[in-house]
Amino acid sequence: MDLFEAIIGRRSIRRFKKDMVKDDIIMKVIEAGTWAPSAGNLQSWEVVMVKNSETKEKLVTAAYLREFLAGAPIILVLCANQHECGASYNDRGVELYCIQDAACAGQNILLAAHALGLGACWVGAFDEDLVVQALHLPPGLRPVSLIPMGYPDENPSPPPRGDLEEFIHYERFK
Ligand SMILES: Cc1cc2nc3c(=O)[nH]c(=O)nc-3n(C[C@H](O)[C@H](O)[C@H](O)COP(=O)(O)O)c2cc1C
Repeated sequence: MDLFEAIIGRRSIRRFKKDMVKDDIIMKVIEAGTWAPSAGNLQSWEVVMVKNSETKEKLVTAAYLREFLAGAPIILVLCANQHECGASYNDRGVELYCIQDAACAGQNILLAAHALGLGACWVGAFDEDLVVQALHLPPGLRPVSLIPMGYPDENPSPPPRGDLEEFIHYERFK
């Protein structure tokens, strides 16, 4: 798939077929995450792969009852490794770089999933403490996204995008 086709054609998918995704496909998707840029190439992110129904239900609770999460055969939980990044970059590593690392990896993961015929959605609305408890995350790991993933069972229209001119500021902001 052409890169621009993938970028423009990717959608947030919230309805999934029951079919399980083969492990080698999931590994390929996660490997795409490792090729994202990261501060100092530390790749300060971790991913917890959840397939177990009980754990999925805990994530649904953490995500304010977004039931569609449990409808996915797999949920990837992306975490920023504040501990690792802070050791090299102090406060900026803890507060910014590791979050950016995880976000860059996440976007690669979403695009790779789409390129392989999968659907996924970045879910950022959740109670972090409940996710930490559900997944036994140690201190220094901050969950940044729940990514339900599976074969899509919907084909949503693209939500509108802003005009380029709304984003770009020439030479200075105003
Ligand atoms: C930081 C962030 C947080 C998001 N949180 C949620 C969320 O909590 N629940 C949800 O259903 N979608 C969430 N989304 C997905 C957006 O709603 C979606 O990307 C946006 O509407 C554009 O649609 P598209 O991804 O199909 O282009 C989030 C996306 C981002 C980048």
